[in-house]
Amino acid sequence: MVSASIIKQRESLPIFPYRQEIIEAIRQENLLVIIGETGSGKTTQIPQYILESFEDVKFIGVTQPRRIAAITVSTRVSEEHGSKLGEVVGYSIRFDDCTSSKTRLRYMTDGVLLREATLDPRLEQYNVIIVDEAHERTLETDVLFGLLKTTHILRPELKILVMSATLNVEKFSDFFNSCPIFVIPGRTYNVLINHHRDARIISLKSTFVMRAVETALYIHCQEQPGDILVFLTGQGEIEKACRDLLDQEANLNYRKDVKYADEVRGIVVYPIYATLETLEQKAVFEDPPRYTRKIIFATNIAQTSVTIPGIKYVVDSGFVKQKSYDPTTGMDALLVVPISQAAATQRAGRAGRTAPGKAYRLYSRESFEQMEKETIPEIQRSSLLGTVLSLKKMGIRDILNFEFIDPPDPLLVKNALKQLFLLEAIDDKGKLTRLGDEMSIFPLSPFLSRVLVASSKEFECSREILIIVAMLSVEEIFISPRSEEKQFEAGERRKEFYHPSGDHMTLLNIFEAYLDNGYSREWCKERYLNRRTLTMAKNIRDQLRELMLKHDLPIISCRIKNEDKINDNNRSRKRHRRNSHADTKYDTNKILEAFSTSYYINLAKRHSHRPLFYHYASARASDNEDIDANSSLLALHISSTSSLFPDNKIVRMEDLDWVMYHNVLYTNKALMKVISKVKIEWVEERLKLFEKLVSVNLDGDDDEKNEGQENENDDDDDDDKFKAVTNIKIEE
Ligand code: CDP
Ligand code: MG
Repeated sequence: MVSASIIKQRESLPIFPYRQEIIEAIRQENLLVIIGETGSGKTTQIPQYILESFEDVKFIGVTQPRRIAAITVSTRVSEEHGSKLGEVVGYSIRFDDCTSSKTRLRYMTDGVLLREATLDPRLEQYNVIIVDEAHERTLETDVLFGLLKTTHILRPELKILVMSATLNVEKFSDFFNSCPIFVIPGRTYNVLINHHRDARIISLKSTFVMRAVETALYIHCQEQPGDILVFLTGQGEIEKACRDLLDQEANLNYRKDVKYADEVRGIVVYPIYATLETLEQKAVFEDPPRYTRKIIFATNIAQTSVTIPGIKYVVDSGFVKQKSYDPTTGMDALLVVPISQAAATQRAGRAGRTAPGKAYRLYSRESFEQMEKETIPEIQRSSLLGTVLSLKKMGIRDILNFEFIDPPDPLLVKNALKQLFLLEAIDDKGKLTRLGDEMSIFPLSPFLSRVLVASSKEFECSREILIIVAMLSVEEIFISPRSEEKQFEAGERRKEFYHPSGDHMTLLNIFEAYLDNGYSREWCKERYLNRRTLTMAKNIRDQLRELMLKHDLPIISCRIKNEDKINDNNRSRKRHRRNSHADTKYDTNKILEAFSTSYYINLAKRHSHRPLFYHYASARASDNEDIDANSSLLALHISSTSSLFPDNKIVRMEDLDWVMYHNVLYTNKALMKVISKVKIEWVEERLKLFEKLVSVNLDGDDDEKNEGQENENDDDDDDDKFKAVTNIKIEE
């Protein structure tokens, strides 16, 4: 049953007076852009309006750039609809599908719809597709735009709606054949903006968390009642900020320190970030207990995707964690970077939704002036490996001429082609190979897909690699306790899993032990392991395994039967069981060599006498003798969460010559995360080829191509449509 208060809430939204007009517009147009202030009700209401008014609409798909938004919004909408989540209203995100045969409205990530479009460009099962939060301009949304244009030609009756906050909307309309734009009039209030007086925003990067906490506390002490939203960049700092604020608040003397102590006598603090369990978040949307102030520390997710009611004060750190392409490794890294002016304006606007508000910027007016005007779309700053592979899989050979709303830098496309060639996913004509075809069945980065295929067909260790890949696809396996004493204990407990080759095998050990101990809650707790994450990893492993079986990729184990252990079976069973993960042997070299088929590029060489490393490209570029002295090279350090961290003394540093890493985290140092020892022989050949591939020549910008060919007028040449986009050139 839908409660009266829900009905009232729905009817009080800014969008409600325009319900009928919106329905009419959707009835008339098959391509439509809808814009409205964040919080006006687009995401939650418009799909419901369609459900309520169009009987012939059987299935609506709504994309969200973020997994967590897909979950929270569908939860909310199913509640408003008066049904259980997963029935009429459901969600689909990677590795987690909460829909059923009854589902008519499905919220999903843009990535999920993109994969569906790869398999069925007509998107036959849908009557309506809504690309929501289009202003976020994620890589997947941008590619979807291009594909939907084709879908519109194939199926003109399909209704395609693009929904966006009030940013850059003409662009969307221009792209979709100048379709009409429906504007939901805003209802916003004044927001008074305070800038920080100190102009050195960049040098203050290291202290913004502290200042955010101070500012929140200042508002709490000095300002009238009203909730506070603080924008930070990631999980670690958000958790720290919550703790610090609670600690400092505990020391307040309300009578003395708090100006409005008659009305505010306490605080409730919530974190919001992408991986947080949704249930924990529900309270975020509710009013705080009487006489308390709600204070929320959030990532960029609260900028436009999720609206929290009652916010009167915004504290903006001025930073965001953003995916950025790293040209030396050809992979993406997450970097904390200054936001754009458009983002700053959006953030401040969150304070003026229901009444006049205030925004405290932790940066100066000068810093604001120096920010980029708009956020650069993700497609122009990320590795395009996965995108290019998906497009190839769809049969789109000519990537540079694909209709992008903002085309990516051709160099990024060339790099992606070059890497796909090295991964053997495409051939020298740019055509998808069998291997590439097999890689594209996995919803993973092409690097991990490549490792999976290699483990099955070449290295015979796919059972183990499946586990490691699943473990690499989840976050925060270890729980880090607050007290120092417990931290020490957690560190000690971890040692039982450490493998001398490094973290990949360590992850395998943890997972196997988790299985051996029957997924026990107690067992996880004692070892400071995050059971929720491990359950998720198991779930992902199972799904990937199913995909492999379905596509005839054999699952083979490289476990080595330990004769001694079998003969010794009459030892205490219990003890044997408990320690089994430490006794189990695998063909470690096979596993690591399979990884090196992809990670040859994430290779680092150790400094001759210090525990730091250099990326192999820099190690090669300079004379071997000189690299240690050359301070301009980027030094890579081993993350303290790694089993190979020097203090753990799992290996002697002298024994680590070359290592491969899964990714690099840039804090004040560049930290390699998830690293293992490798033998340079495994990757040498590929590295040589990598260096020889000086250029990947693309259609149209290549001198040689014109030699002796009549390329001037190739409109009528049918074959040309299928012309290879790459000609890989190898320098002899
Ligand atoms: O999409 P748009 O930003 O226009 O608004 P929306 O996400 O549809 O949100 C409309 C209203 O629903 C806001 O006032 C939210 O606070 C509320 N909402 C909620 O109470 N719980 C959720 N899980 C999501 C939204
Ligand atoms: Mg929305």
